Amino acid sequence: MTRIAVLTSGGDAPGMNAAVRAVVRKGIYLGCEVYAVKEGFRGLLTDDIVPMNLGSVADIIQRGGTILRTARCEEFKTPEGQARGIGNLRRRGIDGVIVIGGEGSMRGALVLAKAGIAAVGVPGTIDNDIPCTDYTIGFDTAVATACAAIDKIRDTATSHQRTFIIELMGRHSGAIALAAGLAAGAESILLPERPYDLDDICRRLEKGRQRGKLHSIILVAEGVASAYEIAEEIKQRTKQDNRVIVLGHLQRGGSPTAFDRILASRMASEAVDLVLAGAGGKLVVYSQGKFSSVDIEYALSQPANFDDSAYRLTKILSI
Ligand code: F6P
Repeated sequence: MTRIAVLTSGGDAPGMNAAVRAVVRKGIYLGCEVYAVKEGFRGLLTDDIVPMNLGSVADIIQRGGTILRTARCEEFKTPEGQARGIGNLRRRGIDGVIVIGGEGSMRGALVLAKAGIAAVGVPGTIDNDIPCTDYTIGFDTAVATACAAIDKIRDTATSHQRTFIIELMGRHSGAIALAAGLAAGAESILLPERPYDLDDICRRLEKGRQRGKLHSIILVAEGVASAYEIAEEIKQRTKQDNRVIVLGHLQRGGSPTAFDRILASRMASEAVDLVLAGAGGKLVVYSQGKFSSVDIEYALSQPANFDDSAYRLTKILSI
């Protein structure tokens, strides 16, 4: 009998529950005792670790958020915090941990792996900014949510012939803004990965107005600047009124799409196999239609994916 644990950490992402369900069910199916660590790495420090059974994960596959709750735990970054967390796992005889979260969480998983715990990472973040995987759990849902919101804004923008500046999540990553912008037909998209030229954006606005466009949608990824600042700059240059909306944490909630549920279930299943094979320090990835794994250390040393061809296409399609 092997004891394994699962935790969710960092910003929550739709589909995390589907991943937790898959870890618990597959782990039990393979004869393991499965535990849940509450509130991410904080639960390791406070020893908030509970046994799971088949019923503990019933009726969660369709739910947003994470039933295990999550946290950004500064204390686990200290050697004392790490020693306490690792000590709690050892005392309970837990040999493997599946960490579901973003880049910071993968760094936490690496700490556990280096201490000899079979810790495996599952990429779960709406930001889609983990290298080596084409998708992270939650991204597809966040893009669908953002796209649906932009569609609604476009209705009123068209009626009033207005320009809207919409701020989307992504402190270091423009992935949501780029995908939602392509899906919703935004006029301009400002991303942290690329420089932007406000004069050019204003010229495009003016050109659109001249050819009879009834609205303009400008997307700003959170990491670029505040949408309010950008809106003010545009207003001063164009002498036209505009409106601002910040979608914020709305993008992190909601029922996961079928894609995210499937991605989560499959990645979590791979993670259980890796933990049972003793392959600590691995990150489950989905690339070119296949599930596999890479070393967490390698993944974290790689630049984040940026889809430059999608970016160029948004510019072409929004002329
Ligand atoms: O990592 C996901 C994310 O939603 C980012 O897009 C965003 O910048 C950040 O988390 C917000 O974090 P918090 O919920 O701590 O404000």
